[in-house]
Amino acid sequence: MTSNSSPPDYYDDLDLSFAKAWDLIEPGANKRTSPAHTPVVGSVNASGLAQLRVMVLREADRTLRCLRFHTDSRSPKVGDLKNNNLVSILMYDAAEKLQLRLFGTARLESNGAAVDAAWTESTTFARRCYLAESAPGLTSNVPTSGLPAWIEGKQPSEMQLTEARANFAILWCDITELEWLYLANSGHRRARWTWDEAQQVWSGRWLIP
Ligand SMILES: Cc1cc2nc3c(=O)[nH]c(=O)nc-3n(C[C@H](O)[C@H](O)[C@H](O)COP(=O)(O)O)c2cc1C
Repeated sequence: MTSNSSPPDYYDDLDLSFAKAWDLIEPGANKRTSPAHTPVVGSVNASGLAQLRVMVLREADRTLRCLRFHTDSRSPKVGDLKNNNLVSILMYDAAEKLQLRLFGTARLESNGAAVDAAWTESTTFARRCYLAESAPGLTSNVPTSGLPAWIEGKQPSEMQLTEARANFAILWCDITELEWLYLANSGHRRARWTWDEAQQVWSGRWLIP
């Protein structure tokens, strides 16, 4: 936690602010109590309406500029992101008084070594939801978990999960812009970094908060 009475070292330093942002994002993948563990991921639907939902951050890498999420390949967000791959991600760390907005493009991957590894590394309990018989978001005449009756309230075995694997996908987010807002009584600080593909560098600018 930082105090507003003594500004942190990154307060007036673009490079340190950028590093601080990734210092919050990256550990969020493994730290359940971190606000970065459950960011809001935004896409745009066919009507042009922003669609926001909470997702669990599974991996983040500042060098690769990439975030990994898991999802059901039948879900509406997958269809939307296939039509329009622009994605935005929002995190707010109240203790650090930091809002981070990430922008980039989404890639969906259903097959291959990375997906197999992500599937195997997930707990059987986490993978159970991919056993749902119908696609997420479809209507139902009755209240339901969507799971087949034989697995309701039970932990599935590896064998029972075999058919669920086809519904599992990785959502990769390649980040090309990161916006920072630090709240302080001494004066807020706002900055934006944009990835320069030609130069292969991030370029940052201060913004009026
Ligand atoms: C704490 C929390 C974590 C969630 N994690 C995920 C996740 O990792 N992947 C996912 O697809 N949905 C996750 N969800 C559900 C989504 O928020 C959303 O309801 C669902 O994916 C349907 O989104 P869609 O209709 O836009 O496709 C999570 C919800 C909550 C509340």
